[in-house]
Amino acid sequence: MNNIPEIEIRNLSVTFNMYDRGLRQKNIKVISNLCLKAEKGEVLAVVGSSGSGKSLLAHAIMGILPKNAVVTGSMKYKGLDITEKRIKDIRGKEICLIPQSVSYLDPLMKVGNQVMIKNNKSCFEKMRKAFRRYDLCENSEKLYPFQYSGGMARRALISTAEQTEPSVIIADEPTPGLDRKMAYRTLKYFRDFADRGKAVIMITHDIDIAVEYADKISVFYGGTTLETTRAENFIKGEKYLYHPYTKALYNALPQNGFKAVKGFQPSPYEVSEGCIYFDRCDKRQEKCRGNIPVSVFDNGSCFVRCIYGHSV
Ligand SMILES: Nc1ncnc2c1ncn2[C@@H]1O[C@H](COP(=O)(O)OP(=O)(O)OP(=O)(O)O)[C@@H](O)[C@H]1O
Ligand code: SF4
Ligand SMILES: [Mg+2]
Repeated sequence: MNNIPEIEIRNLSVTFNMYDRGLRQKNIKVISNLCLKAEKGEVLAVVGSSGSGKSLLAHAIMGILPKNAVVTGSMKYKGLDITEKRIKDIRGKEICLIPQSVSYLDPLMKVGNQVMIKNNKSCFEKMRKAFRRYDLCENSEKLYPFQYSGGMARRALISTAEQTEPSVIIADEPTPGLDRKMAYRTLKYFRDFADRGKAVIMITHDIDIAVEYADKISVFYGGTTLETTRAENFIKGEKYLYHPYTKALYNALPQNGFKAVKGFQPSPYEVSEGCIYFDRCDKRQEKCRGNIPVSVFDNGSCFVRCIYGHSV
């Protein structure tokens, strides 16, 4: 097996050009310096609070950002740039997105027909098999999205990833709205998929799920990655987690004392130079207002963005 990651993102930035009062243009940077690797055979969980840029990362990879988004940095799939042309060819075939919002279903088309990638017998059988796995009965194939409950729509979206044998699945919060049995069936599908030598990027708010099913966890905050670490470090204990925010997430888990993280994530409108976690960090120093080094560990597969590196 070669060592080229399935997906490699380096220094990704996403800026929206928007109109302000008086038709003045303004640029809002919502993602900056974002780095991430999804490797063969691994589930990478992306965790972070609401608005930290998780869905935008997924949309940037899939080439479905709004027209007013300006993307810089490098995004590679199997070692080659993800260009506009290339993503059109591989989207839905080699890289599949399970979107966060069920509004991605076409309201005017029967759900079964939307999930099938072609209108032929083998695609029909695949759709039926996936629907059966997620407890969607034959009748539900013929319904329109408005006749679905939220949980049914989510299960239909998850079924789409089983219509081809992609190399990468990006699942944007796939489990909310699912009962425990369906959630575990979905997560097991991702785990088995990765174990077949594929890559999964699983966006979730649930660190316990990430720890149980993922190999690595990437911690997002304010549009950037603060740390990528092995999932097992969340079990081994706080001292194996390096970034103060990752430690705070660990301590906020019910089994670790439920300690709330003080303060709020800055909005893209109030981001300043230096460390984005500055205002909330108990360990901040004056030099945290400058450039923050990235410290790599675990043979280059993990990193932390903090002046203390991997010794905090
Ligand atoms: N089209 C847009 N124009 C301007 N800003 C946007 C746009 N889409 C998203 N944003 C901003 O980008 C930031 C990241 O959004 P994103 O949807 O990626 O968050 P998220 O981490 O997926 O959050 P959640 O957990 O709630 O789904 C947010 O501050 C959001 O307001
Ligand atoms: S760089 Fe400084 S402010 Fe940022 S997390 Fe590390 S110690 Fe805290
Ligand atoms: Mg999102």
